[in-house]
Order: sequence, then structure tokens, then C-alpha cells
Amino acid sequence: MNSLTLHAPAKINLSLRILGKRDDGFHELDTLMVKLPGLADEIQFDASPEFSFACDDPSVPSDEHNLVVKAVRQFQEATGLPASYRILLRKTIPHGAGLGGGSSDAASTLLGLNRLYARPLTEEKIQEIASSLGSDVPFFLLPGAARCTGRGEKITPAPAPVPFRILLLKPAFGVPTPDAYRRWSQSQEIPGIRYAPQDLAGVQLTNDLERPVFEKHRFLAELKQWLLTRNEIAAALLCGSGSTIFAALSDGADAKQITRAAQCELDPGLWSWSGLTS
Ligand code: C5P
Repeated sequence: MNSLTLHAPAKINLSLRILGKRDDGFHELDTLMVKLPGLADEIQFDASPEFSFACDDPSVPSDEHNLVVKAVRQFQEATGLPASYRILLRKTIPHGAGLGGGSSDAASTLLGLNRLYARPLTEEKIQEIASSLGSDVPFFLLPGAARCTGRGEKITPAPAPVPFRILLLKPAFGVPTPDAYRRWSQSQEIPGIRYAPQDLAGVQLTNDLERPVFEKHRFLAELKQWLLTRNEIAAALLCGSGSTIFAALSDGADAKQITRAAQCELDPGLWSWSGLTS
């Protein structure tokens, strides 16, 4: 095969519970994640004399720091193959957003190269490489929803909750994931902000990272509360470590109108996306 294009979807955590800090510095998790097939980066592989990488978003590193390049290096090391493709990454998923964009790109890169070279790596080896690249990466190797434990890398496919319509809102700033976890054990709730689980069609929406993230970035707590005061919103929650907040929309809710109101009343620079969970 000379070329291949893959779509790397975003994710949201419907629930994220932190069970404690581990000796290796990571946190023990129990999280339920679903993919957003309609919000995806595009990764194009074209045969080339040697490997090269480019990204259409200049704010994303296009050197060895990019998770796509890290995935390529691991593939080359594990297989001894050159990965001689020009890889072009077209970003749609914002980064520093808690939507798993970089992790999804890395997973698609591994799957893409393994396909292009007629599967030199076993599923187990791909899993192993994926977890070494990041806690969220193994989740993106499989389709559908999953419950993820350990540091997030232990995947149990979960029955997909009924798809529902969501609105994502994100300010221009991002949240560095290590910072959110580091603050977790010392963090306090802000009075007046709703942290309690919200029932959505039998799923208890909750995110333990809201406490540390809201404390540092009050605007995100304000954005969640603002969404929860609206009738058209069934629930609202921080995505992963942020900085995106997702809102589950009630039937008939007008996502564009809610976005315009949020931009007008809270922050004209809010990024938004609306679509279905898988
Ligand atoms: O695994 P990943 O590279 O995505 O993790 C980024 C950072 O987030 C880690 O270096 C760690 O500080 C924090 N983290 C954590 N516990 C997890 C996942 C991530 O403390 N389960």
C-alpha cells in the first residue's frame, strides 16, 4: 500500500475516579471513556524514500516531542523497519483540552504503520508500546467505549451508553495534565460549585480532577455552573484534566445559540464543537 489516511477520534471521560497515588508517581484510576467519532484528527501516510513528519498546526511540536514521532520511533525499534512514509497530521482536536488528541494520534500511527507493513507487530506488542507512550493511548487502539483502570492503560470494553448529543466549550488556555494530578491530593472544593455525580441515562457523570483544576482555573468552574443553570443542558462536566467542559444537551437544545450566549456572557474566545458520542 502506498498511502493511507486514518481518522483519530477525540474522547471524553463520562466518569473519572482517582483511587489514590501510586509509588511510581502515577494515580490509580477507574474511568469510563467514550469516543467522539465526529471530532477527529486526520493522519495521512504517503510512501516516501524516508520517514518525515509534518503537522498543519504550528503550535503543535513537529519534532521528536510529538507523540506521532515517538510512536514511529517505537515502531522502528520494535520491528527494525524504516517506516519510510511521509506522515502529515491535520489537527482538528485542540490540545491541552483533555480530549485525548495526542494519544489518539499516537494510537492511529501505530495501527497505520502496522497495517502498511502487513502487521509485523502482534496486538500485545502494540498494546505494550501504546502504554509506554501514554496512559490514554491503549484506549484508542480499540473501537467503542471502555472502562480503563490502572493508570488508565488497562482496557475493558464497556457496553456503549446510548449515544447522546454534547456541546464542548474550551477557553484559549490549556491545562497541563501533570499539573492537574499533582494538585489533586491537596485540593479543596470551591463552595457553590457542583461536584456531585450527575445521573445521565443511568451513567453517573463525575470527574475527580475537577477539584484541583477548578481551584487553579476558576473560569472553568464558572463555565460549568453557567451551563448547569440552563434548561437545555442535562449535565456538564470537565473533560479529563481540562480545559474543555462538555455539556449533555437535552432534546431540542440549540448548540449554536448556547455557544453564542457563552461567548457573549463569559468569553468571546471560547472554542466550541457539537456532535454525538459513540
Ligand atoms: O500517561 P500520560 O503521559 O498521559 O500522563 C501525563 C502525566 O499525567 C503523567 O506524567 C502524570 O503526571 C499524570 N498522570 C497521573 N496518573 C495517571 C495518568 C497521568 O498522575 N493515571
